[in-house]
Amino acid sequence: MKTVVKLPGQEIPESYFDVRYDILRKPLGSPKGSERLGGDDESIHCWAEVNGKIAAVGRAHLIPETGDGSAFDQKAQSACPPFEPLCDGFKGMEDDSGTEIPTTGIRPAIQVRAMGTLDEYQGQGLASKVLSALEAESIKLWDAKTGWLQARIVAIPFYEANGWCCFGAEYEVPNVGPHVSMWKNFENLKR
Ligand SMILES: CC(C)(COP(=O)(O)OP(=O)(O)OC[C@H]1O[C@@H](n2cnc3c(N)ncnc32)[C@H](O)[C@@H]1OP(=O)(O)O)[C@@H](O)C(=O)NCCC(=O)NCCS
Repeated sequence: MKTVVKLPGQEIPESYFDVRYDILRKPLGSPKGSERLGGDDESIHCWAEVNGKIAAVGRAHLIPETGDGSAFDQKAQSACPPFEPLCDGFKGMEDDSGTEIPTTGIRPAIQVRAMGTLDEYQGQGLASKVLSALEAESIKLWDAKTGWLQARIVAIPFYEANGWCCFGAEYEVPNVGPHVSMWKNFENLKR
């Protein structure tokens, strides 16, 4: 097994997007092409390969300095709501572990999207390797202080096992299903 990281602008093989489609879009009945996300060209991409075959994928992008993480995917016809702590006027809130999400010091902030492992490779630690690499590279490249993501309900235990925590109420992402927002403070990952 090896993990491969591609920095923004580096070439990404078609097979990476095929895996993303097979895991995340095909099961929803979405058409080919819907796996392409806005910002792919500016993102860090990582995958895990087993015997030369891409088995797990994920990406991270820098949330613009004044951005709140909300997005609309034309191809998937799906809207992601903002992350409350990144919105103007955020007054602070506790995450589900009782930790206070601070109002300052949380940027640069990155968002993790499109994480998935092919069915036959799940439970082997591959997505954890991809996620750790995305976190480490985001810290190196962008000096990221925190990470944010919108987790499908089934994926929450995976992210929790990797140090992420839920906050706020559950919501529906159209054409995808129920989600909960999660965050991670990268402060402890720095050496
Ligand atoms: C969520 C997903 C990416 C996890 O990939 P994976 O390669 O199987 O994850 P890992 O093997 O690295 O899991 C690491 C840890 O996460 C936890 N975990 C992962 N999947 C879990 C599940 N379904 N239920 C409970 N815990 C889970 C476990 O603690 C696991 O450690 P363990 O194997 O020692 O028990 C994968 O199940 C997947 O692709 N699901 C479908 C697509 C999806 O929902 N993507 C996320 C969109 S937000």
